[in-house]
Amino acid sequence: MRAKVETAQAPKSSKSRATDSDEVVVRDVSPAAASPRSAKKKTGGKKSARKKSGTLKKSVPMAARMDRHDLYQKSVQGVEAEIDFIEETFQSLRGRKPTLIREDFCGTANSSCEFVKRRRTNHAIGVDLDQPTLDWGYENNVMSLPPSARDRVRLVNADVREVSKERVDAVLAMNFSYYIFMQRSMMIEYFRSVRESLAEGGLFFMDAYGGYEAYKECREKRKIDKNFTYIWEQAKYSPITGIMDCFIHFHFSDGSKMNRAFSYTWRLWTIPEIREMLAEAGFARSTVYWEGEDEDEDSDEGNGIFEPDEEGTADPSWVCYIVAEK
Ligand SMILES: C[S@@+](CC[C@H](N)C(=O)[O-])C[C@H]1O[C@@H](n2cnc3c(N)ncnc32)[C@H](O)[C@@H]1O
Repeated sequence: MRAKVETAQAPKSSKSRATDSDEVVVRDVSPAAASPRSAKKKTGGKKSARKKSGTLKKSVPMAARMDRHDLYQKSVQGVEAEIDFIEETFQSLRGRKPTLIREDFCGTANSSCEFVKRRRTNHAIGVDLDQPTLDWGYENNVMSLPPSARDRVRLVNADVREVSKERVDAVLAMNFSYYIFMQRSMMIEYFRSVRESLAEGGLFFMDAYGGYEAYKECREKRKIDKNFTYIWEQAKYSPITGIMDCFIHFHFSDGSKMNRAFSYTWRLWTIPEIREMLAEAGFARSTVYWEGEDEDEDSDEGNGIFEPDEEGTADPSWVCYIVAEK
């Protein structure tokens, strides 16, 4: 199986926001349950007022005008490639495509929206602890879907370990979001609850990152377009606890900055640790999908194609997928 995946960026691609609240609020914010929102804003009729707001717009720094979720989606995520990988891998292992997925740590539910867009039979449940982020996803991603697809995304405000065990074909935990569970016991509890949520033959998809650069305290800049640059900062890493603090900052072409737009505190787990915990949680098998190398000899980039591998390579920085079978 050769699934072509364009990672939005290296490990530094997607950051999950660590939220360690014990409070569990299960609130359905599916379109039917969500409060009505106006998609349109009334524009002022007066010419002078419009002119005034135009002037204001220019004088307000870009950092104050830009939306951090929008910037995150543009710089971190590659949901088309991610859903390609999930569909192709599911097809290859199970001989059919998945029709119901659960996107854990869904944030703005961008992947769920990409999934339901593809087929009328596709449904997705997005789970996240942070209601404002879910609201943003509802207003900007779910409401941008064709009307017939909107009802096929359900957003649930809950802890991923507590969400109801509705049986799904696949659970997704992407952009390393599950690294927020810092003790083995917590991670195994989460993996067990994922396993219980999977239908017979269900698959659990997650990504992982590492390489010797992952342990460095450093900053990496990437220009996304003419307007802004994305900065991934590994601010602190403790070799004793394995815990790291990371930030995403955005810098704009007018010189303004949105510092610490997102913050993450993670344990930098290794692949063998993750696989051992999956086995302990009862998964029958886990497979690592490792990225191939670019054919261009001068390039040190991956080729975006992830295939089952038993060894990998000692790259300075890598991202891979792990697929666990119920
Ligand atoms: C940066 S987002 C990841 C978004 C998306 N999955 C992606 O691939 O980019 C991480 C999300 O995990 C959520 N989160 C953290 N702990 C959680 C938990 N225990 N249960 C549910 N969501 C959680 C945060 O609110 C945050 O929105």
